[in-house]
Amino acid sequence: KSKPTLAVIGGDGIGPEVVAEGLKVLDAVAGADAFEKVDYDLGAERWLRTGEVLPDSVVEELKRADVILLGAVGAAPGDTRIPSGILERGLLLRLRFLFDHYVNLRPSKIYPGMPVPLADHVIDGKTVDFLIVREGTEGLYCGNGGVVRQGTQNEIATEVSVNTALGVERIIRDAFIRATKRRNHITLVHKHNVLVNAGGLWRRYFETIAAEFPQVQTDYLHIDAATIFLATDPARFDVIVTDNLFGDILTDLAGAVTGGIGLAASGNINPEGIFPSMFEPVHGSAPDIAGQQLADPTAAILSTAMMLDHLGRTDEARRVEEAVNADIIERGRDRRSTAGVGDAIAARL
Ligand code: NAD
Ligand code: IPM
Ligand code: MN
Repeated sequence: KSKPTLAVIGGDGIGPEVVAEGLKVLDAVAGADAFEKVDYDLGAERWLRTGEVLPDSVVEELKRADVILLGAVGAAPGDTRIPSGILERGLLLRLRFLFDHYVNLRPSKIYPGMPVPLADHVIDGKTVDFLIVREGTEGLYCGNGGVVRQGTQNEIATEVSVNTALGVERIIRDAFIRATKRRNHITLVHKHNVLVNAGGLWRRYFETIAAEFPQVQTDYLHIDAATIFLATDPARFDVIVTDNLFGDILTDLAGAVTGGIGLAASGNINPEGIFPSMFEPVHGSAPDIAGQQLADPTAAILSTAMMLDHLGRTDEARRVEEAVNADIIERGRDRRSTAGVGDAIAARL
């Protein structure tokens, strides 16, 4: 096969702004025609214009892509023209579910020279470099539940968390394998003291699989305590494995404590390679700063590095990471425009 195809979904708000910088850096490291790029007009504007969120014909095209790069989707919270969840569920989650992106990889590290909101004694020369392996296809995200007696004083709304043996087993195994390629430490984060059904299933598989990996040291934290240690002792973590919603919350916190949400990259991986994997920043469409060149595109740029890694283009991935690393040291606390960050990183390649 000739060139790999890269489907690009800029999306809403700062999504297209940060994706443009990701592509700029990609072109700089791999050459402008290393990929067959196809742009997809999806998101709030399209929905308002046509009433379409993600047409089936587009799904069929995306299915044939090698990889997908996404900016962000979602309207401003105050935008009453767009029903809550229509883009998040109809586009982003639909793709994660259809393409079986059960491994949601969200790495965090504190780069040397990066200003972070943690006390000096917390870091104290220690390495903060951890990987949150978030389950991506189950849990409270399945849309399992409903509303009865809506609009009455007896309204009942339920959201039921789905945890399957297959789903829990495969994500925990994946996380253990990743730990063996890192520092051989893994923390399960859940809340089995309250969520005894799902918690029990997660815990059992964690213990069973741990026995297959005697070299990996294991730990367990309830989600509430995990948020304490993420702020007071982040160096204790190597790999964290957790469910979909806990992983969502923990990764925003992880971004914030390691230098800002504008640095946090992610990959939605289908490890079997049956479907294209999708790479995107952890952050959303940031309506509060959209259209002003204020967004930090580093997360989108690091997401393209994760994409290159996924495609086996490891040299290019390392070069992008090194350029980002150097740029972070150089920029310190300086505020730069979105394009300014992309230009500076691309110029190093
Ligand atoms: P958000 O991540 O968009 O923004 C939270 C805060 O972080 C805002 O103050 C924003 O300005 C700031 N921020 C985010 N990215 C930044 C960047 N690159 N540089 C500098 N600052 C940045 O979260 P939100 O406000 O809860 O959500 C806004 C919309 O985005 C919602 O519609 C939500 O559903 C959607 N969303 C989409 C995704 C996605 O597409 N993957 C992820 C999260 C939220
Ligand atoms: C993220 C986002 C999504 C999630 C939303 C927009 C569906 O917050 O990628 O972290 O909750 O997974
Ligand atoms: Mn999130």
